[in-house]
Amino acid sequence: MQKITVTASGKYDVIIGRGLLADCGKYVREVSSAVKLAVITDDRVDGFHGEKVVKALESEGFEVCKFVFPHGEQSKTPETLLKIWNFLCENNITRSDCLVALGGGVTGDMTGFAAASYLRGMDFVQFPTTLLAQVDSSVGGKTGVDLPGGKNLVGAFKQPKLVLCDIDALDTLPEEFFIDGMGEVVKHGMIKSAKLFEKLEKYDLKSLRADKEVLEDVVAQNISIKRDVVQADEFDRGERMKLNFGHTLGHSIEQYYNYTGITHGQAVAAGMRMITQVAESHGIAEAGTLERLKNCLDLYRLNVPIEPTMGQLGAACLNDKKRFGDDINIVVCCDIGASMIKKMHVQAFLALLSEQD
Ligand code: GLY
Repeated sequence: MQKITVTASGKYDVIIGRGLLADCGKYVREVSSAVKLAVITDDRVDGFHGEKVVKALESEGFEVCKFVFPHGEQSKTPETLLKIWNFLCENNITRSDCLVALGGGVTGDMTGFAAASYLRGMDFVQFPTTLLAQVDSSVGGKTGVDLPGGKNLVGAFKQPKLVLCDIDALDTLPEEFFIDGMGEVVKHGMIKSAKLFEKLEKYDLKSLRADKEVLEDVVAQNISIKRDVVQADEFDRGERMKLNFGHTLGHSIEQYYNYTGITHGQAVAAGMRMITQVAESHGIAEAGTLERLKNCLDLYRLNVPIEPTMGQLGAACLNDKKRFGDDINIVVCCDIGASMIKKMHVQAFLALLSEQD
């Protein structure tokens, strides 16, 4: 078991280990004097872990109620949030009580936003059950819901009181979701840690998943990277933007495919490949960086062929919601484990991409 402490606008521990969900009441008791806990989860995760978690929380004397919504990104809406607010109201949840996010990124983001907004703010804890949520979204306090016009358009920064990453919860995760999480894992290695990247090069999807000790260590290394980035720039004005490596083009790819037939991880992987191709062809990235990235992505089945040209994707980036006026912040890796943010005019970015086609 490993413990990583995050010091942001709130200080909290991220605990990484095995069998943590069955023991979660004990950990929540250490950080909360709530009378009631409201567990928020989706129907799929509820089937695997709901009963065990409620039992463990009740065994520590908490009164527990549970809100279950249909799994999937399509639930991450203001409509579901309204249902959660009403549920909290009907169950007389007070400001000194606590919400429990049990599930993946959709659950964590939505529960966090409910905690940021209900009664003008209350505590919440995160029990992430997907690899993506464990290595990325459960740490750092980004919460929110989607709108028809785009993902995560409404939200707040709200740090949890505790994050429990139970490696055993990944046993029931479908392979496609595990691969998705690996996209963010490779990204963390690329932007911040040659050591992590070298470790990933020694395994592949099957062998990493099979070795729980190594997997726990990989999750912990990722959380430690995320912790450092969040501590340096909690509110996403500088250093934290590096976590967008591959995401600007990745989002355009997801949009091109209408969010079907390609996963977020595969789209981000393609985005990382493309931007590294640009960087290497302009001498910004060390020769050989793209080759190592591609090989690593292959090990985790993240490489898929992409139909749109870079020029087409660049044109779609002109509508990127993370633009600052006519400028866009692009993250490039100059070497494995070393990244920088380059602010450029959107038209210059488009020209750079178009010349690769
Ligand atoms: N997932 C990107 C961030 O936390 O900033």
